[in-house]
Amino acid sequence: MLEDVKIMYTEEEIQKRIQELAIDIDRDFDSKEVVAICVLKGAAYFAVDLTKKMQTPIVFEVMQVSSYAGTETTGTISIKKDLDADIAGKDVLIIEDIIDTGYTLRALREDLLSRKPNSLKIAVLVDKKERRKVEVPIDYVGFEIPNKFVVGYGFDVDERGRNLPYIGYIEN
Ligand code: IMP
Ligand code: MG
Repeated sequence: MLEDVKIMYTEEEIQKRIQELAIDIDRDFDSKEVVAICVLKGAAYFAVDLTKKMQTPIVFEVMQVSSYAGTETTGTISIKKDLDADIAGKDVLIIEDIIDTGYTLRALREDLLSRKPNSLKIAVLVDKKERRKVEVPIDYVGFEIPNKFVVGYGFDVDERGRNLPYIGYIEN
């Protein structure tokens, strides 16, 4: 499988785009501290590179959820690893690898909103817009891509391939 991967975005293209996102985020947060939540595992690579490029002061948090997208219209997540921080009254940025159907991010967003943050924004590296089943407000999007299965730079095929330095795709 991994031997058939073709390059969609090179390491240089990814870093250039993430730098642009960091500039947008810095402008919006205007030096206010933000709780940056990296959604494991996929977003790990993106979250590290993005937050290193940001000037905004952050508290770095990780969260791991699993989704059961498609099994019901509401979408459900179970939390495998929860935040250490209490986000009540805080400004929060969710950092996610991809939005596909939208079920995962919608459920995660609702869960986090119930904890009463002051604000909640979402950054995704990749948006497969045509696959959306539920609308979720996304504030920062790295790349809008067609409906292809991506691998590398955090994206996996059965847990393999996350460490490829580029975003590749497998023809479907
Ligand atoms: P959603 O709930 O359908 O938006 O799905 C989001 C989750 O599906 C992501 O967090 C990924 O784990 C997974 N996913 C969707 N598309 C891809 C892909 O092209 N490559 C790797 N994982 C993907
Ligand atoms: Mg994921």
